[in-house]
Amino acid sequence: MATMIPAVSWLRACWTLLVCCLLTPGVQGQEFLLRVEPQNPVLPAGGSLLVNCSTDCPSAKQVTLETSLSKELVDNGTGWAAFWVSNVTGNSRILCSGYCNGLQIIGSTDITVYRLPERVELAPLPPWQPVGQNLTLHCQVEGGSPRTSLTVVLLRWEEELSRQPAVEELSEVTATVLAGRGDHGAHFSCRTELDLRLQGLRLLVNTSAPRRLQTFALPVTPPRLVAPRFLEVETSCPVDCTVEGIFPASEAQVHLALGDQVLNATVTNHGDMLTATATATARADQEGARQIICNVTLGGERLEARENLTVFSFGGPILNLSEPSAPEGSTVIVSCMAGARVQVTLDGVPAAAPGQPAQLQLNTTENDDGRSFFCSATLEVDGEFLHRNSSVQLRVLYGPQIDRAKCPQHLKWKDKTRQVLQCQARGNPSPQLRCLKEGSSQEVPVGISFLVNVTHNGTYQCQAVSSRGKYTLVVVINIEARNSHFVPVLLAVFTTLGVVTVVVALMYVFRARKQRGLYHVRQESPSVPLTSMPTEAIREEPSRVE
Ligand SMILES: *[C@@H]1O[C@H](CO)[C@@H](O)[C@H](O)[C@H]1NC(C)=O
Ligand SMILES: *[C@@H]1O[C@H](CO)[C@@H](O)[C@H](O)[C@H]1NC(C)=O
Ligand SMILES: *[C@@H]1O[C@H](CO)[C@@H](O)[C@H](O)[C@H]1NC(C)=O
Ligand SMILES: *[C@@H]1O[C@H](CO)[C@@H](O)[C@H](O)[C@H]1NC(C)=O
Ligand SMILES: *[C@@H]1O[C@H](CO)[C@@H](O)[C@H](O)[C@H]1NC(C)=O
Ligand SMILES: *[C@@H]1O[C@H](CO)[C@@H](O)[C@H](O)[C@H]1NC(C)=O
Ligand SMILES: *[C@@H]1O[C@H](CO)[C@@H](O)[C@H](O)[C@H]1NC(C)=O
Ligand SMILES: *[C@@H]1O[C@H](CO)[C@@H](O)[C@H](O)[C@H]1NC(C)=O
Ligand SMILES: *[C@@H]1O[C@H](CO)[C@@H](O)[C@H](O)[C@H]1NC(C)=O
Ligand SMILES: *[C@@H]1O[C@H](CO)[C@@H](O)[C@H](O)[C@H]1NC(C)=O
Ligand SMILES: *[C@@H]1O[C@H](CO)[C@@H](O)[C@H](O)[C@H]1NC(C)=O
Ligand SMILES: *[C@@H]1O[C@H](CO)[C@@H](O)[C@H](O)[C@H]1NC(C)=O
Repeated sequence: MATMIPAVSWLRACWTLLVCCLLTPGVQGQEFLLRVEPQNPVLPAGGSLLVNCSTDCPSAKQVTLETSLSKELVDNGTGWAAFWVSNVTGNSRILCSGYCNGLQIIGSTDITVYRLPERVELAPLPPWQPVGQNLTLHCQVEGGSPRTSLTVVLLRWEEELSRQPAVEELSEVTATVLAGRGDHGAHFSCRTELDLRLQGLRLLVNTSAPRRLQTFALPVTPPRLVAPRFLEVETSCPVDCTVEGIFPASEAQVHLALGDQVLNATVTNHGDMLTATATATARADQEGARQIICNVTLGGERLEARENLTVFSFGGPILNLSEPSAPEGSTVIVSCMAGARVQVTLDGVPAAAPGQPAQLQLNTTENDDGRSFFCSATLEVDGEFLHRNSSVQLRVLYGPQIDRAKCPQHLKWKDKTRQVLQCQARGNPSPQLRCLKEGSSQEVPVGISFLVNVTHNGTYQCQAVSSRGKYTLVVVINIEARNSHFVPVLLAVFTTLGVVTVVVALMYVFRARKQRGLYHVRQESPSVPLTSMPTEAIREEPSRVE
């Protein structure tokens, strides 16, 4: 205990001495301070500032600025000196020093340097983002200080998606958004905020170039493809491909193809529905089993639909006559043919094998004029039978002829009656028929009712004429005078009436006489009308001659 007390006292004395030695000159000099202006300045990297070192000490000497930065005396005066400090690239501390009453006085300040980020960039977005999937945005920030004041903000248009401090020197800030249909065409960007408001400056903002997002949605069902199952070579058919629930429908690409032949499709879209229509025309070299393909591409993804289509070639049936207009008696060949796999049947007779022609030969008669030949063709395509028919009509050139059975050669007509000369001519080309009276060129109408008179009595040359020649038939027309029959009949009637009258009269007289007993029979009989009969009978005779 006794040794401890002197030790403490010595230590205290020593401390007091040290403080006195260090502070005594200071106490005298520190009456005057060396000010440094501005205090704690903040400036951009590489910037410059005017620093004023000043003191109120009236005997101040050698006021100067101590710094490793490049400096330049701008002006000085009593107790002050101003310096232009330039190229400040980093945080630093500057000192002002001077002498007051032979004692050194010092003042200092810290310079804070800030830097805007050298790079603020939003990483490229995927070209197409599926709707309903998370999209991660990456913002890369390089440089920028002080880091403690730097914040990174991710934006959709002006909406803040995420706000995070940038900690490391090269930092990447990410944010995840669930992509929706509304994000199609949205602009995303990244913003840095260097907050120097505490240091008396503004909020310094840098924004990346915006990036545009494209979102898409595809249906789970494949496109609906409508096309026929068969298509004949060199013919066309419509092809339709429809996709529903595709977004954005207007940006989808549609390809329609028949095999490797790309079809020229017309694409229309209505809401989320997309329709492509095209006309497919099969080429001859496409015969066989083919496919109609519809593929829809959007966002790098593809929907595809295929339908089988068989391209067939019927090639007919071609029904041919060796001569479409053949003279009677000539030989005509009728042939029917069609494509390689087609079975043809001509007038019920099938060809030997599919692809073979069917033929028939005939010696033409006039009965064959106008005859039709039928050819039916059958092709099996993909399990189905396709049928086609064809017909052709034969013309046979014959005649002219007058049918004796249909043209009476002896006619007995009564005068002053209406009669028809029934007579027909046949032939191809159809002949012209005229009946002319021999000796004179009087013509009697054929097939038409006319009033007969005695001038029609005579022999006629009935002639059928066509480009193939003429045919003549003689027709004799006998005209009977009409009254030669009428007069005797009238006389007979009168005679009969007379006889009846006489008989009745006689009976009356006889009965009267019987009652009286008298008879006068002979005087009452009329004989004159009866004598005229033979003359009438003679007149009738010539009409019977033919
Ligand atoms: C430096 O400060 C002193 C004292 O405050 C003043 O008189 C002088 O004008 C200043 N110089 C400049 C260049 O500002
Ligand atoms: C100003 O600076 C010059 C050059 O350093 C010096 O000669 C002069 O004495 C100074 N003036 C005052 C008032 O300190
Ligand atoms: C600024 O200072 C840097 C180093 O700190 C130096 O490399 C550069 O050349 C200086 N620029 C000027 C204009 O003095
Ligand atoms: C940051 O913004 C300033 C102006 O505010 C501009 O001069 C500078 O080039 C920008 N930096 C980048 C990396 O965009
Ligand atoms: C998207 O991310 C969020 C979290 O960021 C998660 O909860 C959600 O399940 C994700 N959705 C999909 C579709 O991945
Ligand atoms: C495609 O069709 C359009 C009209 O439908 C037509 O103008 C165009 O010429 C066609 N292109 C080809 C290569 O056929
Ligand atoms: C879509 O179909 C077309 C025509 O068949 C073809 O050329 C194209 O390569 C197909 N697209 C894709 C992505 O397969
Ligand atoms: C198309 O034809 C192929 C054989 O050529 C067959 O395997 C496939 O099932 C057919 N597709 C349809 C949709 O009929
Ligand atoms: C059919 O007849 C036409 C002329 O009538 C001829 O040009 C063609 O070659 C014929 N075809 C056949 C298969 O006989
Ligand atoms: C056709 O006439 C020729 C002679 O002109 C005869 O040899 C052939 O048998 C006849 N054909 C038919 C089908 O009547
Ligand atoms: C007899 O008939 C022909 C024509 O039908 C006529 O031209 C002619 O005058 C007629 N003759 C007499 C005597 O009636
Ligand atoms: C009618 O003509 C025939 C001869 O063809 C002749 O014998 C007959 O007397 C004629 N009759 C009359 C009434 O002219």
